[in-house]
Amino acid sequence: MSISLQPVKGTRDFYPDDMRLRNWLFDIWRNASRRFGFEEYDACVLESEELYIRKAGDEITGQLYNFEDKGGRRIALRPEMTPSLARLVLQRQSSLTFPLKWFSIPQCFRYERMTRGRRREHFQWNADIVGQPDQMAELEALSLLLTAMRMMGLGPEHIRVHVNDRRLLDAILDHIQAPRENHLAVMVVMDKRDKITPEELNRLLEEQGLSPEMTARLNTFLAMRSLDEVLAELGECEAIASLRTLLERLEQSGLGGYARFDITVVRGLSYYTGTVFEVRDAGASLRAICGGGRYDSLLSTFGGQDVPAVGFGFGDVVILELLSDLGLLPQLDRELEFAVIPFSQNEAPLALQIAQGLREQGRTVSTDFSYRKLKKALQRADATGALKALLLLPDEAAQGLAVLRDMKTRTEETVPLAGIMEQKAD
Ligand code: HAM
Repeated sequence: MSISLQPVKGTRDFYPDDMRLRNWLFDIWRNASRRFGFEEYDACVLESEELYIRKAGDEITGQLYNFEDKGGRRIALRPEMTPSLARLVLQRQSSLTFPLKWFSIPQCFRYERMTRGRRREHFQWNADIVGQPDQMAELEALSLLLTAMRMMGLGPEHIRVHVNDRRLLDAILDHIQAPRENHLAVMVVMDKRDKITPEELNRLLEEQGLSPEMTARLNTFLAMRSLDEVLAELGECEAIASLRTLLERLEQSGLGGYARFDITVVRGLSYYTGTVFEVRDAGASLRAICGGGRYDSLLSTFGGQDVPAVGFGFGDVVILELLSDLGLLPQLDRELEFAVIPFSQNEAPLALQIAQGLREQGRTVSTDFSYRKLKKALQRADATGALKALLLLPDEAAQGLAVLRDMKTRTEETVPLAGIMEQKAD
């Protein structure tokens, strides 16, 4: 029987080269999180399916990888981390000290239609501030994600944060007299704007009680480019004031160049209650790189008290595509200090002994017990990225010596074996 060697459709294999890149990205995410005083948490990829069932018809619910386990429980592979975070917080709500600043890098699974930047599995950096009603939480979340962007070499010429507020969308939907009980469902539909045809969009909006005239008025709002334009039509409201301060504060912290008001940012998840944002590439040619916002009532929908929360999810797929398009992916060589190469089986025990001694000093050492011709063994050492090769040859070894080759300069010296341990790290 022959089996398919391909990974399951939409999932990825990570060969060592891919892993180096993944670790590079995760290190940036972890370092940025720690710089901002966030603590890491995790949960199991398996969750109860009920955690993701929402009334507003979120797309994510239809994309679940779900099944019944042998005990008859409805289980899902997590499509996102926020519900797990809410569950963790609720479990210990009385003993935790708020505000919490927590981060995680979960692998998430969504049965998505495969397009550029969308797969059925991805890793998603999540950073959330729980228990902070003040807008400073939004600013901190945005500063954190932009710090990570800067660590990757991305400036305002490469990426933009598009900011909006669900309360503004609510005010607009009130203004056009869309049925109040359908606002959330309308927003979930609006988020599909770029993914479906205008006819299909109009049909879905009609299903939510929007007449063609209301849809036309909504579209007029969605074409507005500035807060002032919206203000002129809608009048002053809480969301406009809040967005104005947010943009001003970003400006004051030197991040203004990245930020834009964008009335079309809705977000597809129904739990957002205030600020919503998405990071897009400056050419807006790729899918969203990162998305988040304020969700002040998710915890209470799970049966707890209202706890204000702000956060974002930042996937690994689109960002690596963007960095690759921009030529900003780092060159990550394998890091290895020594390749220890015994000439034959006779020198093998000595190789083991030397390698072990070096490793106990914390050096990185690879041993090559293939007893190939020296030229081949050196080519292999070079390919593994070793900085130095230690050749254990019969005559030299008999005299307590070894040949140490600098792989960069290609120079060799004969050194006493006893002195190897004193070799300085490069
Ligand atoms: P989301 O917008 O569904 O938000 O996902 C956040 C990010 O995850 C996206 O911007 C994208 O980078 C990545 N992503 C999502 N789906 C896929 C996919 N199929 N393939 C590749 N990458 C993907 C959330 O999940 C919220 N829970 C984020 C959040 C945290 N809001 C508050 N805290």
